[in-house]
Amino acid sequence: MAILLASTDFWEDMDVWSSSLQEAMPEMDVRVYPDEGNVNEIEYAVVWKHPRGILKQYPNLKAILSLGAGVDHVISDPELPDGLPIVRLVDKKLTHEMILHSLHWVLHFHSDQYQYRIQQQNREWIQQSSVQSEDRTIGIMGLGNIGKAIGESLVNLDFKVVGWGARPKNSLGAIEYYYGHEQLSKFLSETDILINVLPLTENTINLLTKSELEYLPKGSFIINIGRGGIINEDDLLSVLDEAYISAAALDVFAEEPLPENNSLWAHPSVYITPHIAGQSNPGSAAKTIAENIRLVEKGEDPYPIYSLNSGY
Ligand code: GLV
Repeated sequence: MAILLASTDFWEDMDVWSSSLQEAMPEMDVRVYPDEGNVNEIEYAVVWKHPRGILKQYPNLKAILSLGAGVDHVISDPELPDGLPIVRLVDKKLTHEMILHSLHWVLHFHSDQYQYRIQQQNREWIQQSSVQSEDRTIGIMGLGNIGKAIGESLVNLDFKVVGWGARPKNSLGAIEYYYGHEQLSKFLSETDILINVLPLTENTINLLTKSELEYLPKGSFIINIGRGGIINEDDLLSVLDEAYISAAALDVFAEEPLPENNSLWAHPSVYITPHIAGQSNPGSAAKTIAENIRLVEKGEDPYPIYSLNSGY
């Protein structure tokens, strides 16, 4: 039995991923594309932005497992083999990193750090009046494992947290939840700091254009750690230029790497990080992937499987 590891863009060295997977699954032979040997022996593909079209070369493939939380990089391959489970990665360490990244920017905006930076450049000593966390509403778009964990951390710091997603959900504790297009404007109008964690799907692409962004209260902030195509970048630049939105921390972009000539780079109210908010950790991700492969081997369902219906 062999596992194919395929990527065009590794976050870490390919050797680290391959040895972590090998260590987590000594019973399997981990092979790195394009040195996969006999194609008939490949039963699982573990991928991050794999070269398009390669997966149909393996006639005995049983499942495709993502090295990241999102699977848009898998399903965007127009030549995927039919009928195989596509497994997302739900990993505690990745979720924890996303929580820390969100907290960093929430606090940066909430406690006026972005203002103090500008003041320092101008040698200005101005004490901004502080806002209590219970008087600040954080709106989270996408209340899956990651969004919910971020929301709970913020609730623990006494922030008011609201959430939005495509579908109704059962009990989210202290997080007030809105869903569907009809409730999007209400959700946005309550939000002082927006965190987007939504996956990129047919339904979320270009979800926030200028008219939706203008439902946010004037002076609000945006943190995007979901996917870039969800918030229209030209419209975002326009609400930032008008100082309608105070600042945006962006980790994900419609095109990555963000092209050098993109105006977001130089915007004074934009903070850019290169898609690092939740980096998969080879040690812990390999264990999760190994558990899922063992479930398939036992004839059970891996978790969570991408659903064509919901698009993620
Ligand atoms: C990162 O973007 C991921 O999908 O894990």
